[in-house]
Parts: sequence; structure tokens; C-alpha cells
Amino acid sequence: MKIFVGNWKAYIHSYSDAKKLFEVYKKVASISKNTSYIIAAPPLYVLSLHKEYRGRKILFASQTVSYCKEACTGDIPAYQLSSEGINFALVGHSEQRRKGKTDEDIRQEVNACVQNSIVPIIIVGEHKRDEDASYFKFVAKQLKTALADYPKNKPLKFIVAYEPVWAVGAKEPAKAREIEMMTIYIRKVLVQMFGERKGKSVPILYGGSVNQYNIDAILDLQETDGVLVGRASTDTDAFIEMARKLK
Ligand code: PGA
Repeated sequence: MKIFVGNWKAYIHSYSDAKKLFEVYKKVASISKNTSYIIAAPPLYVLSLHKEYRGRKILFASQTVSYCKEACTGDIPAYQLSSEGINFALVGHSEQRRKGKTDEDIRQEVNACVQNSIVPIIIVGEHKRDEDASYFKFVAKQLKTALADYPKNKPLKFIVAYEPVWAVGAKEPAKAREIEMMTIYIRKVLVQMFGERKGKSVPILYGGSVNQYNIDAILDLQETDGVLVGRASTDTDAFIEMARKLK
């Protein structure tokens, strides 16, 4: 089973456009046998799409989640998402980290998700690739901090997405070899933290300039269970073409 996360960001400018795109997702998901579709729709639209949807094939994610309680103007607290049935949330996206969110904030966001039965999609990735390969350590630190409090006695209900910041919104994704080496490394970190059986149960996605032309090569990689797609997930033709390859 593969996972496709469509991160619509703020590319959709009206609810009626969101509904049109959603119709395409519905059709695709209804005939898909091998892929779970998760839509991270814009914050103002995600709840309405979710409430109007009668099917079961599409899952919904918030693009952000807050651990703050009560006095936090503009935040989207985990308990509100959970009470409305939004079961996934992007946590640690580089476009959120850029606004000043620290690894420590991400850890608390993961904790808020766990406490409210939301599956966090934890996004990690380095800003640049230095010659001494310290980006591996950088990513390990992001991941270990995010999961520092994750209960060891429960099944692991989170997804990791590797998104090198330099490949997000770029012309090209990271090279296949670069993605593969990092996802294998992420798997190793997860196994170290949670043991062989549990560590291997966590889906690892790749994100950063995925489109209909490069998705095949990415899906073939070892330890890559799916993709997190920004721009191309909002382009109907590109999305249909990607779905054809996902099956
Ligand atoms: P992109 O965005 O596919 O447009 O590079 C991916 C993401 O930021 O999640």
C-alpha cells in the first residue's frame, strides 16, 4: 500500500475551486486499490470538504496543528481538529519551521497529536547538503526530538516525510540515490528508537518537487512508502497522471 499526501498549501483560491479539485480526488480514490489518499487542504476548506464527504477512501490532514490551549489567537489546536474528525496533521513542514518553529515546538505538536488521536505526518529535512554529510545528523536530531516523548508501549501511529528543504518548491526533486540513502537512514533511526518490528512499521514518504514525470523513480526506491506532493497535487492533469502510476 502506498500513501499519497496532497499538500494543497495556499494554491487554491476559493472553496468552489477546492470542491472541483476534490471531485477529481474522489474519482481517483474510488478506483484506487493500492494507495491511501490524504488531502492537506487549506485550513479554511479542509473541514467543509471533510464534512461534505460521504466516502471513506480519502483522509484529511490539517496543514498545521497547535499544542497551545485556549489563549492562542490564530492557532489550530489539536483537540479542535480531533473533535471534528480530522485525523492527520502535517507537523514540522519547512514553511512552518521558517516562521520560527523549533524542534522543541515540533515535539510538543507531536505530543498534542498523540494525546488527541491525530496521526502526525512528521516532516524532516536538511537545508543544505554539506560535504561532511552532517545533514544525516541534522535530520536524526529533528526526528529524535520530535519523537522524544512518543509512548514506547503503544503502536506507532505516525508517518515520517523526508523533505529536503532545498528540494521543496524547486525545479527538481533530490536525486534517487540521495533520497534512498536518507530514507534508509531514517529507517535505522526509527528501528534504534522503537525496535525492529515497530520501527519498520512506520511509513516513510518523500516530498520535494514530486510530479508526474519523476514519481515512478521515487516510488521504486527502497524504504519509500509514498510521496508528499505540493504544487503538482493541485494540478488536475498532473495529479491524474501521478495517480495512474500509483494505481
Ligand atoms: P512541492 O512541495 O511538491 O511543491 O515541492 C512539497 C511540500 O512542500 O510539501
